[in-house]
Amino acid sequence: MTKGIKQQIIEQVAPDLEKVEIALEHHLNPNLDLVKEIASHLLFSGGKRLRPLLMIHSARLCGYNEGYEIQFSTIFEYLHAATLLHDDVVDEADIRRGKKAAHTKWSAPKVVLTGDFLLARALNIAAKTKEPDIISVIAKITQDMSQGEIDQLNKKGKLDLSEDEYLNVIERKTAVLIQGACQSGAILAKALKEKEDALNQYGYHLGMAFQMADDLLDYTASAQELGKNPGADMREGKLTLPLIHSLANATIEDKDWMEKAIKAESFDQDQFEKLTEKLYSYKGIKYTQDRAKDHVKKAKACLDSFDACQSKQLLCLIADYSIERKV
Ligand code: IPE
Ligand code: IPE
Ligand code: MG
Ligand code: MG
Repeated sequence: MTKGIKQQIIEQVAPDLEKVEIALEHHLNPNLDLVKEIASHLLFSGGKRLRPLLMIHSARLCGYNEGYEIQFSTIFEYLHAATLLHDDVVDEADIRRGKKAAHTKWSAPKVVLTGDFLLARALNIAAKTKEPDIISVIAKITQDMSQGEIDQLNKKGKLDLSEDEYLNVIERKTAVLIQGACQSGAILAKALKEKEDALNQYGYHLGMAFQMADDLLDYTASAQELGKNPGADMREGKLTLPLIHSLANATIEDKDWMEKAIKAESFDQDQFEKLTEKLYSYKGIKYTQDRAKDHVKKAKACLDSFDACQSKQLLCLIADYSIERKV
């Protein structure tokens, strides 16, 4: 029997992952115990470490062999962790990675400030690369992500949110970080501009597919699989592609029912299941899966110009995994 994609990835990255864990512990370095406690609550609770792995293997794909890729990859996990801390406050989410979200254990202000600490930590480590282009990439990521999250917040409950508006939000809140991790790997390796651009585009398409998959899982996965509460997007009034597409294709009656459901103060499990059925019948699920698949295909095509090697194979597997995943 052929091994599953996840198993193949885990086997290939296990040695890197061990080193990334050690580096994340080592570089965190706060002065204050409370900051360490809050940051560690999230950081060491079982994230996939996708973004550091992307940076490491983008660098290696471009021939980097100076040995600092693990250390510098922590930049992208600290940044990611900062945005998750902030995101759970903004989304009022209770659970993250199967544990209580940090702001429900500590206060929102303490958690937001810990997020700021992690962002600063990421910048500090980025400065050690002595690559101003990497610092620029990080600045752009932070600008885009904060605006993506604000834009999304501002459009909460907007029933006529268009597909383009959705694509804009997910590009900024998710794709730019994944894109930046890949691009920074290429910059670290001093790759040719065309290689850097190819990895940037690989990261963009992977990031778009990754967020579409996250938005699908919010309707199709269980809380146990997800480590987050399914149905949270809709309860938060966050319209994502499965819903946007279904609303556009529903009968007036069903559209009306769905809109009332989105606006309702509370929403029980039966109603959630009924809504999910409509997302299947109006092809919102299928449409989103197809768009995500298009992005995966484009992501893999961006790697065509690279010679075959282990990192190239791994980046292809990660692209496939981004939409197969259950977590
Ligand atoms: C969660 O990212 C936030 C999104 C962009 C959807 P991940 O799914 O990579 O989260 P962890 O780090 O593995 O928990
Ligand atoms: C993820 O958005 C993007 C971030 C900037 C964290 P979501 O709000 O969909 O992420 P989850 O579902 O909470 O992980
Ligand atoms: Mg969220
Ligand atoms: Mg989500």
